[in-house]
Amino acid sequence: MTFAAITGWGKCMPPAVLSNADLATFLDTDDEWITQRTGIRERRVSHVCGTELAYVASARALACAGIAATDLDLIVYGSCSNDEHIPNSASGLSVRLGAGNAAAMDVNTACTSFLYGLSTATAMIRTGVVKTALVVGVEWISPFMDWHNRNVAVLFGDGCAAVVLQASDAESGVLAEKLGCYSDARAILRVRGSGLAYGYNGDVAYGDTLWDFDGQEIFKRAVHGMGESAAEALTRARKSPGDIDLIVPHQANLRIIEFVAKRAGIAMDRVFLTVHKYGNMSAATVPVALVEALEEGRMPAGGLLLTPAFGGGLTYCSHVIRWGERVTPLATSDVDLPPCERSALAIVRDYMARRDPRGRSFAGLNAPVFPEAKAGSGG
Ligand SMILES: CC(C)(COP(=O)(O)OP(=O)(O)OC[C@H]1O[C@@H](n2cnc3c(N)ncnc32)[C@H](O)[C@@H]1OP(=O)(O)O)[C@@H](O)C(=O)NCCC(=O)NCCS
Repeated sequence: MTFAAITGWGKCMPPAVLSNADLATFLDTDDEWITQRTGIRERRVSHVCGTELAYVASARALACAGIAATDLDLIVYGSCSNDEHIPNSASGLSVRLGAGNAAAMDVNTACTSFLYGLSTATAMIRTGVVKTALVVGVEWISPFMDWHNRNVAVLFGDGCAAVVLQASDAESGVLAEKLGCYSDARAILRVRGSGLAYGYNGDVAYGDTLWDFDGQEIFKRAVHGMGESAAEALTRARKSPGDIDLIVPHQANLRIIEFVAKRAGIAMDRVFLTVHKYGNMSAATVPVALVEALEEGRMPAGGLLLTPAFGGGLTYCSHVIRWGERVTPLATSDVDLPPCERSALAIVRDYMARRDPRGRSFAGLNAPVFPEAKAGSGG
């Protein structure tokens, strides 16, 4: 039997930090409300576009796995904040990496995009369609955030991480999963102004979006979807909660995570958290947390993981994942982001004023030009 082992991992976090105190300078909110209701203390705002975050994270993941970009058969780009719709973002990442032998596809299931992408790539490896895949979870939400709406502006952040999957005979990678979607409730989490249904996007300025967001109903559905899918994934994998070494959940709200862990019968000391420092990075949340669990020595070699997640759509899923015996990178990459010369608050203030933070006017058809990552020798 062929498995899809996770053999490489890398993250790329934009350096500009937006604190709760920064948000309180332009929103009617405060650190106490945000911390108590969500557990979030700060989040990141990117000075580069999503594909650039993905390029750096991917170069690091490839180096970690000890393979070259030309070894890839498949790139899956999980995101709901693509730089462009046509051509797709995965092809943009492919050309930046020099992954000329890879098929390239985008997956958009909002916050669950990385995990739906992981299922897609795993299935293609297990059925022999491809042997080596890169799966990315990346979000550049800040340009289309409604920064005037305190209900949503405090919750989200930018970020990226990527993993390399390779065909393996050893039991490894995704062992079982359950995916689902409460499509009847899709309208309770919607970004109005993003997409062709709202007119031609090329002329829409940054900040010209309105978020429909029924927080309490989303909360209930998230607890239900993550809880039910976790139980089903464990059953399908023939595992019990006691077998799980670490839960690496989607991190939208600390209270949701606590409910899900309690329902699964797993203590919070077996849950890996990043929500306090990054907020909800949508598709990037779970892979960034996976990478940080490895960096902080929380990932046991050969350990069993559970990754419940929830997102717009309303999509949900849980995966039971067997980590490999290696928990350290084979090599590192020196690819890095260009320096960020502005504060997160200054970037956000430009979005609020419907200005491009790079100082360009909105010329409709011009593709966004953001700083590009500095290519090093690695990855
Ligand atoms: C959004 C969320 C944090 C709100 O928490 P809540 O306890 O449900 O709060 P409520 O919506 O009941 O709002 C309570 C009050 O706080 C206010 N409020 C909302 N956002 C606020 C903010 N940032 N600062 C201060 N007050 C705020 C509301 O306006 C409301 O005031 P009112 O009673 O005068 O109308 C919570 O519902 C949540 O996390 N939902 C799920 C989000 C999620 O999972 N998203 C991910 C999808 S992938």
